[in-house]
Amino acid sequence: MNGAALLDPMLPLAPAIDPVLDPLVIRATHALKRLVAGPPFRIEHARQRERALADVLSRREAEIVALGPAVRRRDREAIARFDAAIAAALDDLRGDAEARAAATGAERLAHAVDRLVHANTHEWLDDPGFDERLRVRTLERLDRMNEALGSYDAFFAAIEPVIARARAAGVARPTIVDLASGHAMFAVAMALRFGAREGLVRVVATDLAPEYLGIGRARARELAIPEHALSFVPHDALDLRDLPAKVGSPIDVVTCTQTLHHFPPGMVARLFAEASSAARHGAVLVDGERNPFTLVTVAALSAALGRGSLPFLHDAFVSIRRMFTEQELALVGQLAPRADGEPPRPIERGWLEPGHVFVRSFTGTA
Ligand SMILES: C[S@@+](CC[C@H](N)C(=O)[O-])C[C@H]1O[C@@H](n2cnc3c(N)ncnc32)[C@H](O)[C@@H]1O
Repeated sequence: MNGAALLDPMLPLAPAIDPVLDPLVIRATHALKRLVAGPPFRIEHARQRERALADVLSRREAEIVALGPAVRRRDREAIARFDAAIAAALDDLRGDAEARAAATGAERLAHAVDRLVHANTHEWLDDPGFDERLRVRTLERLDRMNEALGSYDAFFAAIEPVIARARAAGVARPTIVDLASGHAMFAVAMALRFGAREGLVRVVATDLAPEYLGIGRARARELAIPEHALSFVPHDALDLRDLPAKVGSPIDVVTCTQTLHHFPPGMVARLFAEASSAARHGAVLVDGERNPFTLVTVAALSAALGRGSLPFLHDAFVSIRRMFTEQELALVGQLAPRADGEPPRPIERGWLEPGHVFVRSFTGTA
């Protein structure tokens, strides 16, 4: 037996079993989701976290903001200092600041549980040498998990206000650029949802890895979505300066989904700054939220949908533990580096059912 068969013993049977069992698991998840309006204790814990966020910003914001102009000029030393300062602010927020902000026994308990949940270990999929069949299988299972949880609907809800803003400003066919799209299934879903085929938007999927984008391109062909409606452009999400030239038009909206937990927090802040500057109307970053309830739900769902796939179970579990909370993402968004003379941007953030968080900047005028 080879290594891949040990890690995913049911893989050879997947083509026969998946079409039968997937719809049942997905339907059961939809039914259960209707019973749960939000993770228990989230609101109580969020109050404590808001106090901790205000505390960390009051002590650290000025020093970090001062690094912004040099970071935006891509000064390497400033970037290293900025990344270290953001990581320290985040450690402070989820550690000492949150402990100090705990006012009740329940808040102290919520904080203690989160200390156990949070961990920053590597996902197997992040290893470039990981077995290709298992990689494709894991990504395909992740799509089914997103379908079961209704994640894409949550992402659409966070993105729609920025598209509406572009339209209100007179852009008939907004260009949406998706960063770090991976196999681009969300970019494909976005093209279908927002009417790319009908000429209502144009979607451009980008990623560092052209081979991932190839999977999305093949799917777009199967769905008869033409290249002028949905295109695939290899690009580094951390440097968007020449992206409008590559895309061939101004960029109205920038999106990035399910990727932030793969990046160090300083990199997320820099990505948000790049995205907000590149977009004429706004940028939206969205990812899952770290909390114990999500951890248990996702572990159960990955066992049900993965059916013996160890990589899927492992990476789902590890990724929830690495994710941001709403206040952590707010901190990173608020401290995103600004160039010399660049005014602070209006930023919104929030939680989306069943368990996602987003940060959104608005640029231009509505
Ligand atoms: C979790 S996957 C993407 C998930 C996808 N956005 C979705 O919602 O299905 C993370 C992706 O980030 C890409 N990536 C990592 N660093 C990047 C960078 N600096 N610029 C662009 N893409 C990057 C990786 O190649 C990988 O495809």
